[in-house]
Amino acid sequence: MKSNNLALFGGQKAVTLPIPSWPRIAEEEIAAVVKQMLAGSLSEVFRSGIIAEFEDAFAKYQGRKYALSFSDGTASIHAAVFAAGVGPGDEVLQTSNTWISAINAIMHGNGIPIFCDIVPDGFTIDPDEIRRKAGPRTKAVIVTHLWGVPAEMDEVLEAAEEKNLVVIEDCSHAHGATYKGKKVGSIGDMGCFSLQASKSIVAGEGGVMVTDERRLYERAMLPGHHDARLGQELTLEETKRYATAGMYWKYRASPIGIALANAQLKHLDEWTRNRRQNREYLKKQIEDIKFIVWPKIPNYVELGFYGTPVFYDQKAADGIPRDVFIKAMSAEGVPLSTGYRVWYLEPLFQDQFFYGRGCPWSCPYADRHIKYNPGDLPRTEELAQKTIIIPMQHFINPCKEVMDQYAEAFHKVAKNIGKLASIRVD
Ligand SMILES: Cc1ncc(COP(=O)(O)O)c(C=O)c1O
Repeated sequence: MKSNNLALFGGQKAVTLPIPSWPRIAEEEIAAVVKQMLAGSLSEVFRSGIIAEFEDAFAKYQGRKYALSFSDGTASIHAAVFAAGVGPGDEVLQTSNTWISAINAIMHGNGIPIFCDIVPDGFTIDPDEIRRKAGPRTKAVIVTHLWGVPAEMDEVLEAAEEKNLVVIEDCSHAHGATYKGKKVGSIGDMGCFSLQASKSIVAGEGGVMVTDERRLYERAMLPGHHDARLGQELTLEETKRYATAGMYWKYRASPIGIALANAQLKHLDEWTRNRRQNREYLKKQIEDIKFIVWPKIPNYVELGFYGTPVFYDQKAADGIPRDVFIKAMSAEGVPLSTGYRVWYLEPLFQDQFFYGRGCPWSCPYADRHIKYNPGDLPRTEELAQKTIIIPMQHFINPCKEVMDQYAEAFHKVAKNIGKLASIRVD
């Protein structure tokens, strides 16, 4: 029997089994990357080779007409913002509760981010906020399926239609997740995915955007793809004339990374099923811990993974701060983390420091001067205090034994929570 003494105080760690490393680098990934290197094809300026193969496979997986690969997920969002027709003075709705680059992509597209609060006890955009916050200059809404939890897409689409907005889904945490039987990324006008090394399938660094609309596909190609590909693919009057010069941030994906993602894509559904099963198993084991509150997931969605979120109820944990709990769990061998900062309170947004001279906020084309204040999004601000992320993307096989040890760690720290009163975390 293992000791009940907390590892933080020198006791034996609850988790002794090795945690699978992520991303998986198995024979299959190695073979795919080596094959790509031996083919001598380290850059594809046309839509050709492994890039075309992956884009075809990803479009098919998503059930969409077009997939366009990128150097990273941020680039795919920037290109989607451009494709949506956002220009100087235009506004884009976005949650603050997301990774910062998915907000900065709006500013790179010359747009002004308008922050929307999230649904009660959830993580994703509140559709009523879309109605409340959209103004005459609002062109698009970015809907992030945060921590793999799909947003309420029926209501989002309804609100977006009322306000005539382009819907960009950010699926960087939610590869393989579904909403009412549809894959996320295939519901709005465009779906963007990061393939960065910590995501559900990886290119190391990479991204991909999907859409059914030729016009959006062609426009999204302009900011970052090479004139070779632009010349090969652009057909519309509004895009073709710029094919020679392009717009050139250079957002092409690396074929080596894409070879890796292409090998992993074949396993995505199986891995996602196993991750869900591991999550369910862990949840059942620790549901009795009153200060760990599991979000309610409607039965019409299936989760994707980038960790899995729970809420920490500090009052129910005898007042022990979340970061102290995380420190104790980490000592037991469960590396928990917190969610995102409240970005609009950061100096970048408070100082409106971006392109200098206040742009894009005070751009002469803007109709109103947006400012961001504490208290703007009460649910988002509360969420930032109570989210805990349990790593889950590592567990692509049934991992009952490790989940048992995770559960043991949670129970051990819960039983000893009062002993953490003297611990401080800077
Ligand atoms: C929600 C979300 N959107 C976008 C991105 C950007 O992806 P990338 O890091 O590939 O640029 C990330 C990356 O972590 C993310 O978490």
